[in-house]
Amino acid sequence: MARTREDTQSVTVSEAEIAVHWKEEDYYQPSPKFIGQANLTDPGIMERFGLDRFPECFREYADLLTWDQYWHTTLDTGDAPFWKWFVGGRLNACYNCVDRHLAQHKNKAAFIFVPEPEDEPHVPLTYQELYVRVNETAALLRDFAGLRAGDRVTLHLPMTPELPITMLACARLGVIHSVVFGGFSGEACGIRAADSGSKVLVTMDGYYRNGKVLDHKANADIAVATAAKEGQTIDKVLVWRRFRDRSASSTPMVKGRDFLINDLLPKYAGQRVQPVSMDALAPLFLMYTSGTTGRPKGCQHGTGGYLAYVAATSKYIQDIHPTDVYWCFADIGWITGHSYIVYGPLALAATGVLYEGVPAYPDAGRPWRIAERLDVNIFHTSPTTVRMLRKLGPEEPRKYHYHFKTMTTVGEPIEPEAWKWYHSVVGKGEAVITDTWWQTENGGFLCSTKPALDPMKPGSAGPGMPGIHPVIYDEEGREIPRGSQKAGNICIRNPWPGIMQTIWGDRDRYVKTYYAKYNKNPKSTDWRDWPYFAGDGALQAADGYFRILGRVDDVINVAGHRLGTKELESACLTVPEVAEAAVVPVQDDLKGRVPEVYVSLKPGVAAGKEVKDKVVHAIETTIGKIARPKDVRIVPDMPKTRSGKIMRRVLAAISNTMETGDVTTLANPDVVEQIRELVQGKGKVATKAGPEDIKRFGDER
Ligand code: WTA
Repeated sequence: MARTREDTQSVTVSEAEIAVHWKEEDYYQPSPKFIGQANLTDPGIMERFGLDRFPECFREYADLLTWDQYWHTTLDTGDAPFWKWFVGGRLNACYNCVDRHLAQHKNKAAFIFVPEPEDEPHVPLTYQELYVRVNETAALLRDFAGLRAGDRVTLHLPMTPELPITMLACARLGVIHSVVFGGFSGEACGIRAADSGSKVLVTMDGYYRNGKVLDHKANADIAVATAAKEGQTIDKVLVWRRFRDRSASSTPMVKGRDFLINDLLPKYAGQRVQPVSMDALAPLFLMYTSGTTGRPKGCQHGTGGYLAYVAATSKYIQDIHPTDVYWCFADIGWITGHSYIVYGPLALAATGVLYEGVPAYPDAGRPWRIAERLDVNIFHTSPTTVRMLRKLGPEEPRKYHYHFKTMTTVGEPIEPEAWKWYHSVVGKGEAVITDTWWQTENGGFLCSTKPALDPMKPGSAGPGMPGIHPVIYDEEGREIPRGSQKAGNICIRNPWPGIMQTIWGDRDRYVKTYYAKYNKNPKSTDWRDWPYFAGDGALQAADGYFRILGRVDDVINVAGHRLGTKELESACLTVPEVAEAAVVPVQDDLKGRVPEVYVSLKPGVAAGKEVKDKVVHAIETTIGKIARPKDVRIVPDMPKTRSGKIMRRVLAAISNTMETGDVTTLANPDVVEQIRELVQGKGKVATKAGPEDIKRFGDER
């Protein structure tokens, strides 16, 4: 609907808006060579997916799948905001990702497994081999573990082929998998297993990380004990072996409860399991999102809508063709891995790289050696990994002869500085970058440029995806004028097939978290009344591109002036010596909060006053004196989650002499104590008490 002059004028923006100081960046164009081979070159797609064509436009996505029974209703809103896509349809996700490719691609690699030790050979897994292994595993899960469609099972597995094999075996049976990131503790796994009501836990004895074999089975014992405390009995623990001929764990097997899958499998050799034809609405998996407060939320994703959405976005945005070699450098234990290592790419018969280890093992050249050797041409990773690889080996990519046609980033806003290095050095100036904004809850990309159609703009995710209609509201629910460069809360006007179905077991929390803020009539069954609240701050430039500012909670309110953490950090990164930056709020009598800056430096750069002054100067010149930090702390490394996100919450606690809480699940827990000493000196006692906004700051999901 066209907006009238009147309602444009009535829009005023609340004073509490987040101040925005980032300058507009120049466009970068995709090359004619890229455009010549791209899957999506029809500019008519935006019109085809206009709101006036909603929801039928999404038929086109569902048609990428093979259905046992075609659906009769594209979208049923009767139980809003619990959206039902492709009602009446039946299909099997595993069939769509494996069986249907056998006729044309059975001898092509579905995955190439790259173990962390560089002298262990790569293991290609063809579609035929994947088919056989998935069938045998499904037979075991059904006949040995007694799993049936609708049951939940928790998978606590590292990045080895056994993870996607087990997921697909579940999908074949209609069993709902809940993958817990392998780097999470046994306790975190147990809480999630209990919440999902899993009676079976699938794990692995051990795996490589940073040159060492970790005893992973030990976590299973803690997980079972934790689940029991939560009232959930796990009666079977199924353990994959990392090595063919020896155990990777010294943790004893519990008799009658723990079973080695590798011992059981020969019994199921050669078995075939008919894929169970599932309702399009049947849950395919749960994926828990962790906040710092409250229980983790089990995001429930359905079969038909989810699979259609990830297949289409893999095809159009990542530009995956069966002939490409695609490497998503994320962990399958996160939503990115589910959607863009397993389900999306496999639905398209892609060849994907599966890498076991940490990015820079044994050195910063490793990723580029893998890319060169396997001739990877699509690369997908997070800004954190980009910054880390830039810090450790800024010149490394130049030494290797690989060529990427597309590169994706996901997970956080990427600072223009990091983007430019990614583009010119990693991408050799040839690759198209898509900066994809979305969330665990969303199933797939929400904002991104279309690689052959839209120019790139560093630091901006881009316009809404086809069929996704974002809008920015202020706190009072007034629409912030399109293209006005004013910040507010980004929402999506309409449902889409990839959206989660609910929070497992907690319908109220689903409505409260994502819809209550902007819904005016809880009884309405009209989707127009239910904008989806993403919890991110954003602004839209005149060209329609959205720039994401980070979680709404991650703002620092200096004397009533709300500063986006991300743009402060971006300013720090303009100082050439700085590798990584994190900004946190510190209590201040006068101004309420002031920013404090943490930076780590590039190798070979000396820490000193000079660098600190440069950082302060950069902030003052790009943002203003209002943002002048209380202090600049030079640290050896940032505290990070195992998925690589900087834990600003921990830094904020240190800056405010508050307790940091549990840091054992961090990738580098030792650094926390080092930073604490650096900031507080020895012997200072941290307190539990502290203001709510600082406690909540930096929700590290
Ligand atoms: C942030 C990851 C800016 C955002 C798929 C979101 C981003 C949260 C981007 C979801 C991006 C993700 N630019 N910010 N391209 N992608 N985010 O659930 O704050 O792990 O709300 O899903 O990451 O994180 P999650």
